[in-house]
Amino acid sequence: MYQEKYKYSASLFSINYIKKNSIIGIGTGSTVLHFIKHLRKLKYFIKGVVSSSLKSLNILKKYKFCILNCNNVKKIDLYIDSADEIDNNFMMIKGGGGALTGEKILASKSKKFICIVDESKIVKKLGKFPIPIEVIPMSISYIKEKLINLGAFPILRKNFTTDYGNKIIDVYNLKINNILKLEKELNAYPGIVTVGLFAKQSADICITSGKLGIKILK
Ligand code: 5RP
Repeated sequence: MYQEKYKYSASLFSINYIKKNSIIGIGTGSTVLHFIKHLRKLKYFIKGVVSSSLKSLNILKKYKFCILNCNNVKKIDLYIDSADEIDNNFMMIKGGGGALTGEKILASKSKKFICIVDESKIVKKLGKFPIPIEVIPMSISYIKEKLINLGAFPILRKNFTTDYGNKIIDVYNLKINNILKLEKELNAYPGIVTVGLFAKQSADICITSGKLGIKILK
């Protein structure tokens, strides 16, 4: 119950960063849903939005935002999204909602990435939350085998297909020492579309809300 309240207030605070005529990248998830609702009041103040997923796109359509095609936008001014876990260096595990590919593309195309989270998402070390990995369906068994060889415990997400027709493997117990290196190594396996480790695409600012109120971490 409190977690929802914190998601609401972190997303409300992020509205302070919205500039006139800017292009805003929209993440996916329940925190972002609060953000979209707050952003509604500014929909004529901004140039438009780019969505990270079909789920967010449908909500943005419902609220009649000016929706821009990612391919027609050179740079996104500001990307707002949440995370499943975020560490002190603003590296994250994302993809709990399965939208990691669109999210990583938008994060890469953005001048600034603000991560909005309730305080429970802040961790000293990433890895308690399973790392989502989007894979091409025919690579599932190959990738699972590779992950088992790394000492991890991969579970295929049931009844879930991504916006791009792919599958998600949730990876438990993967040893994370060097996050950047691990992200790069996993990216090299054929069949992996996106790894839910956001090390290269870490956030620039983290707005967190909790018992003691809002904190802006830079
Ligand atoms: C979706 C994500 C979300 O940012 C993450 O799962 C957090 O979601 P929520 O705001 O619902 O807690 O990465 O793919």
